[in-house]
Amino acid sequence: MTRLIHLQRAGVSVVADLTGPGLPAILYWGAGLGELDDGQLAALRTVMKPPISHNPYDQPWHVEILPSFASGWLGRPGVEGSRDGQDWSPCFQTTDFELASGIEAADGRIADQLRVRAADQHARLGLEVEVELLATGLLRVRAAVTSQGDESYTVAALRTVLPVPARAAELLDFTGRHIKERIPQRTPFTVGIHSREQRSGRTGLDAASVIVAGPAGFGYRSGEVWGVHAAFSGNQAVYAEQLYNGARVLGGGELLQHGEIILGHGDTYQSPWLYGSHAEGLDAMAARFHQHVRTGPAYPAGPRPVVVNTWEAVYFDQDLDLLGEIADRAAAVGAERFVLDDGWFGGRRDDHRGLGDWYVSPDVWPQGLDPLISRVHQAGMDFGLWVEPEMINLDSDLARAHPEWIFKTGDRAGYSSRHQHVLDLTHPDAYAHILSALDALLNAYPIAYLKWDHNRLLVEAGHQPSGRPAIHAQTVAVYRMMDELRARHPGLEIESCASGAGRVDLGILEHTQRVWGSDTNDPIERQQIHRGLELIVPPELIGAHIGPSPSHTTGRTHSLAFRAETAIWCHLGFEIDLRSTGEEETADLAAWVRFYKQHRGLLHTGTVVNADHPDPAIWISGVVSPDRSRALFGVAALRRSDTWPPGPVRLPGLDPGRGYRIEVAGPSPSDQAWRPSELPDWVKDAQVVPGLVLAQAGVQLIALRPESGYLISATAVI
Ligand code: DGJ
Repeated sequence: MTRLIHLQRAGVSVVADLTGPGLPAILYWGAGLGELDDGQLAALRTVMKPPISHNPYDQPWHVEILPSFASGWLGRPGVEGSRDGQDWSPCFQTTDFELASGIEAADGRIADQLRVRAADQHARLGLEVEVELLATGLLRVRAAVTSQGDESYTVAALRTVLPVPARAAELLDFTGRHIKERIPQRTPFTVGIHSREQRSGRTGLDAASVIVAGPAGFGYRSGEVWGVHAAFSGNQAVYAEQLYNGARVLGGGELLQHGEIILGHGDTYQSPWLYGSHAEGLDAMAARFHQHVRTGPAYPAGPRPVVVNTWEAVYFDQDLDLLGEIADRAAAVGAERFVLDDGWFGGRRDDHRGLGDWYVSPDVWPQGLDPLISRVHQAGMDFGLWVEPEMINLDSDLARAHPEWIFKTGDRAGYSSRHQHVLDLTHPDAYAHILSALDALLNAYPIAYLKWDHNRLLVEAGHQPSGRPAIHAQTVAVYRMMDELRARHPGLEIESCASGAGRVDLGILEHTQRVWGSDTNDPIERQQIHRGLELIVPPELIGAHIGPSPSHTTGRTHSLAFRAETAIWCHLGFEIDLRSTGEEETADLAAWVRFYKQHRGLLHTGTVVNADHPDPAIWISGVVSPDRSRALFGVAALRRSDTWPPGPVRLPGLDPGRGYRIEVAGPSPSDQAWRPSELPDWVKDAQVVPGLVLAQAGVQLIALRPESGYLISATAVI
């Protein structure tokens, strides 16, 4: 059997080299290479092999999927660990491998799969490496290390890497904070490590999310890009590393705390999947992730219902009459799902107390939730409930009864955050208690949806009484509990919320059906947040609500239309107190909800596109139907442009061979002050324009006030 393996799918080629005695190396990951015979693969290997000059070793360097000192790698190693100071530099030898084409992977995805087994007899370690090229063209790799020694082996890190070429000279990743998630940052890909490390026990409001490498200035529509993402919702790191010799890799894995994983004889630790998406431009890179999520086992069925959420409408001020009235008004506006947010349980009248006591508060809901749910159902909506199962307030019945279920290190539970601590779900009794409390609620009430929040960081999360760090086990326990609840209550949907987009990754998306985009509903902030999130998450799984104006988080004021033009692309909802909206605003909201319902078939199945417009104040994005017969584009002015007009903007993603009727779309453009003289001719007189012209030349814009926008529809006529 040849030991040069070529996997090829969806325009992507991956060539793995198993000729050496060590672990496989990815020789090539990039654009499809076509059919290559053994001789051609050998030629590829020959031309890719670096010369020995200036190498500290007497043999050429190569980068194994888990790079090791033993193979000459002087950077961050793939396996870190030891048996009390021994066996710390493993030297794995491949023992056998299997190759399977078009198989159904464990999660149901179709893949070409390379599975390699290796061992280090001296260090008494076994290793299994999986490389899968999925039908979407996504590449994913992971490894599992098994200890075969009598003395325990402490795993400090298990990381996998993917190589990128020298022309990938620039990096893009993300940071963020509460109510400002997914802020992009770009840096040159220099020698050293650009490592984005997350120690908050969740994916993070400041998550890197994805590290993308590409040629300087790569954009949404151009530039060959390689992006990696670690599919795990606890501590993790993704990084870009370049060595003195020019070797460049993108890598990642879980970020383990000292002593977190200690393997006894025969025990195994498996790293999370590291996903890699290669494509021309960020849109195509994101499309591979979207397809992946859309074809996953947890992907929700049916159109995404319009949500009305009570949080910004009433906060903790829950009352049957008040919420009943909001429910009726919301249904009249077109809402399809009513979500009762924080404040319905235990002693939870504010955010200082009650977390952990998951029974309906008799003070607030003396007749239970039935009267409210009946009213919600009568109004034609389904019912959703907010929970925060991993958290506990010290002022709660649960904390008083079971202080030993709270994470602690030494004698301290650490700083509180939002007055709360973290409940240790790795404690079997705590897990069983919370599972049964949630299960009882789901049995007692017809709950279609849980908004599953997570508002505190897991720092110093030590299991009692051992004191050992338990972030890995806690993360796995949460995944398990979500799956268990969904198995017991088929059709239940779960939203992953963590003070906004603090737990958004491909790991949690294997267990949940929606992510909360941010605690800010300010459309200016949301425009940027959605762009960042959409590099991984398909928009229909991102919760986006039309909030009140002025925005509760920023104080900015925006027209209803601009708030709606920002939210309709995602999973739409609103959280306005509908008793305070005037007749006109209520009617406008209803019109936008109708527009969303009319277009969600397109918005939630199509291809997301973003134009690379040179004016940073103007953003153009859209969704094109899979058959490219129709598209909807949004134009947003984030601030005032330095020059006006900014010149024609391209409408990306259309079929260059067809003609499209282009029109301004939507119930009411957010900038109502258009003067006829400011309107380009195509607005006054709908035009049929060749797709090629729209993609290459573009269209002139309507004059826009800052922080406003409008929509353009494109419908193929030939
Ligand atoms: C944080 C969430 O992100 C908000 O939407 C809201 O649910 C609050 N928690 C409730 O405490």
